[in-house]
Amino acid sequence: MATRNILQIGDPVLNKKSKQVVDFNDRLHQILDDMADTMYAADGVGLAAPQVGVLRRVAIVDVGDGLVELVNPVITEQSGSQIDEEGCLSVGDRVEKVMRPYYVKIEAQDRFGKKFEIEGEEFLARAFCHELDHLEGILFVEKAEKK
Ligand code: CO
Repeated sequence: MATRNILQIGDPVLNKKSKQVVDFNDRLHQILDDMADTMYAADGVGLAAPQVGVLRRVAIVDVGDGLVELVNPVITEQSGSQIDEEGCLSVGDRVEKVMRPYYVKIEAQDRFGKKFEIEGEEFLARAFCHELDHLEGILFVEKAEKK
């Protein structure tokens, strides 16, 4: 088990755009393993590589249905909308309402480079969108509904 330090809001790395993964090697697998350890240790439901200081397009999500590893993920379909509370392991205890699609379809690669598609609704769709935003350098507080 190897946890990594989670960067906190204000760290400029969190606002940078991550780069495509091109090498599906041991280094990537180590990052993914460490990210899972880090997320579970922090009781999170998602974590993106930039949050542990790695500016690569890698994210993980587990909303209770098992771990999903996303490498180079893109949203290929989305529909509907939902507004609900969201938090982030990089933003302390702050919780804000954010609008997200109700449904998304994601195309991504697994840790070996194999392409797959995954769909999500409700909270899973929210988690996917939140993590993909991290890869663009966007934190949820920048999308929070105006009070
Ligand atoms: Co987050």
